[in-house]
Amino acid sequence: MSESKRAFAVVRLADQWYVACRSTDLRRRPLARTILDEPLVLFRDGEGRPTALLDRCAHRNLPLSQGRVVDGLLECAYHGWRYGRDGACRLVPGLVGPDEDGKGRVVPSRAVCEQQGVIWVFAGTGTPRSEPFRFPHLEDARYTTVTADMRVEATLLSTLENQLDVPHTAFLHRGLFRGGARHEVTAVVRRFADRVEAEYVGEPRPSGLAGRLLAPEGGTVAHVDRFVLPSISQVEYRLGERSHLAITNALTPETEFSTRIHSVISFRLPLPGLLVRALVSPVARRIMAQDARILRLQTETVRRFGEERYVSTPIDLLGPHVWRLLKEAEAGHRETVSGEPAVEKRVQLII
Ligand code: FES
Ligand SMILES: [Fe+2]
Repeated sequence: MSESKRAFAVVRLADQWYVACRSTDLRRRPLARTILDEPLVLFRDGEGRPTALLDRCAHRNLPLSQGRVVDGLLECAYHGWRYGRDGACRLVPGLVGPDEDGKGRVVPSRAVCEQQGVIWVFAGTGTPRSEPFRFPHLEDARYTTVTADMRVEATLLSTLENQLDVPHTAFLHRGLFRGGARHEVTAVVRRFADRVEAEYVGEPRPSGLAGRLLAPEGGTVAHVDRFVLPSISQVEYRLGERSHLAITNALTPETEFSTRIHSVISFRLPLPGLLVRALVSPVARRIMAQDARILRLQTETVRRFGEERYVSTPIDLLGPHVWRLLKEAEAGHRETVSGEPAVEKRVQLII
């Protein structure tokens, strides 16, 4: 992270799919969202298809998100111009007679994809060459899934690092997740062309309520933390065939210091799914609130100092790799795509 010439470790990965909202967030009213500093308005057309336009009326710069949807068209709140899903103006109230300048009455649109209950927007003017990320386990009936959304005051990088960082858990989340007896384990870090992961070998079941629910009988868990370009983090725990917990976060960079988190928590445990959900939800909310507070404090500090500084040790396993992958993707080059990791190293740590 230190090689950046910028004061802050901020990346702008345009021409990527980012989550705009859940399907259920977008009903009859237009919805304002910001992705990569770009104000957008989302609405559903006459057939219920989600649409994203720049949030600025072509006429006099009103935010279109202040308008309403009429007959599947987005109507501006000022003079009532109406726009279709392609951003073209279809109606100018009061306009009669010759109309020669209709071509300029258009608002730029962005590609949208609705799948798995999530609305993705392709942030950028390019054409999507791939589909958005698919959340695993959602269609698997053996899994129970909980979703959660939140916004944090932090860069994309700090948010990703926080989600994939193990050493802070025993300290910041003591008693909720880890913080009991410490154990030395081996982490194997593997970086591929589009991802980096840390696999923990020989990790005992984490202490704290969340760990007890995951593995009531104790034992050793298989634990992997993973970052996937452009903005996905995953934390997975497995205990034999019966227990599997997978937390997948799709992050959306709104602005430099504002990141939205869309979490999908899927689990298959020896206990009834509804019971686990009822027990885990309050604990997960407290853990997320602790992380959000820390990220806000971190952001306030780097802003106050006007720059950020990092000193890392070998147990800051994934942050530097995430930074490198993001910067390389931003610059348009990637490591060679192959099945073999470009980097593989083992690190001993106590967790
Ligand atoms: S500003 Fe939107 S219709 Fe005039
Ligand atoms: Fe945390």
